[in-house]
Amino acid sequence: MTQLLKVGIAGTGSYVPEKVMTNNDFTKYVDTSDEWIRERTGIRERRFAPEGMATSHMAEIAAKRAMEAANVAPEDIDLVIVGTVTPDNVFPTTACQLQRRLGCVRAGAFDLAAACSGFIYSTSVGWNMVRSGAARNALVIGAEKLSNLLNMKDRTSCILFGDGAGAAVIRPMDGPSEILFSSLHAIGDTEEVMILPAGGSRMPATKDTVEKELHYLRIKGREVFKFAVSKMVEQVELCAEKCGVPVSKIATIIPHQVNLRILEYASEKLNVPMDRMMINIDKYGNTSAASVPIALDEAVRSGRVKRGDLVVMVAFGAGLTWGSVALRY
Ligand SMILES: CC(C)(COP(=O)(O)OP(=O)(O)OC[C@H]1O[C@@H](n2cnc3c(N)ncnc32)[C@H](O)[C@@H]1OP(=O)(O)O)[C@@H](O)C(=O)NCCC(=O)NCCS
Repeated sequence: MTQLLKVGIAGTGSYVPEKVMTNNDFTKYVDTSDEWIRERTGIRERRFAPEGMATSHMAEIAAKRAMEAANVAPEDIDLVIVGTVTPDNVFPTTACQLQRRLGCVRAGAFDLAAACSGFIYSTSVGWNMVRSGAARNALVIGAEKLSNLLNMKDRTSCILFGDGAGAAVIRPMDGPSEILFSSLHAIGDTEEVMILPAGGSRMPATKDTVEKELHYLRIKGREVFKFAVSKMVEQVELCAEKCGVPVSKIATIIPHQVNLRILEYASEKLNVPMDRMMINIDKYGNTSAASVPIALDEAVRSGRVKRGDLVVMVAFGAGLTWGSVALRY
């Protein structure tokens, strides 16, 4: 049996577009207010990518920053995974476009669709490929342009999301850095809690689907709320147990930036102070698969997460999917 290698995150990078959409900007489209959005979600603003900027363009910048931080050359990357539900095209994949543009000439590349859990899933796959020796340097990315899918007439969903990308290079490492544990889960969503109704093989794009506004995402926010709190608590406790420590020993939790109130409930149930959670939802809203890697990158670059710190990343999303990764950064 192959000996598993000790593998860590060598470097991170992220990118958000320049255009800021404040809460007040949404009052032009729907009956809402800055106060309602801030109090019910914790979001103050988010970024929207301009027309012509695709998911791959944001991913490319984040990936270059991650490779630079990891001191890894593009030709040494042998696996590119892009967690996204807003690919540039259904095919060719965003990962293949990136593989070429980045010059990762030796790399296999694929997209991974797990919605907001996309980076957790991608990291878990990358980690297992590298530790088994099937790849040496994996570039894992979470990138989304959700602004394209927002129905700007639906106040319950359009205010929640933003665009962006985050990336990490995973490779064998000396020293304290090590990915320790990961767990991935799913339960098929038969209730259409979160769905993009049209545009797939079940309901291809037609004039009718456009007129019926079936190319915009739909969510049942209240149901997501309960699901998110319970999964976040469960996953953080599981990571602590698998790492053989109490939850209080986790230096930083990097949660999917879904709603500040969800994170507050979870912090109360876990008995973890809010300052141990990395939170940037106020600036970017929910960027789906990009949310965890953007928060990770900000935590690393600001010095909040240091080498050797025990970090737990946790996310949940459409599918339904959820999962976690525990690591010594
Ligand atoms: C969407 C979400 C912010 C709604 O917050 P909530 O506290 O659950 O609010 P409710 O859905 O109970 O709605 C309360 C009222 O506010 C209204 N409301 C909803 N969005 C509003 C907005 N943007 N501005 C003003 N009022 C709004 C509702 O219409 C409702 O009015 P009513 O009582 O007259 O029917 C919250 O449920 C959430 O964040 N859910 C998870 C987000 C999510 O699904 N993320 C994607 C997957 S990871």
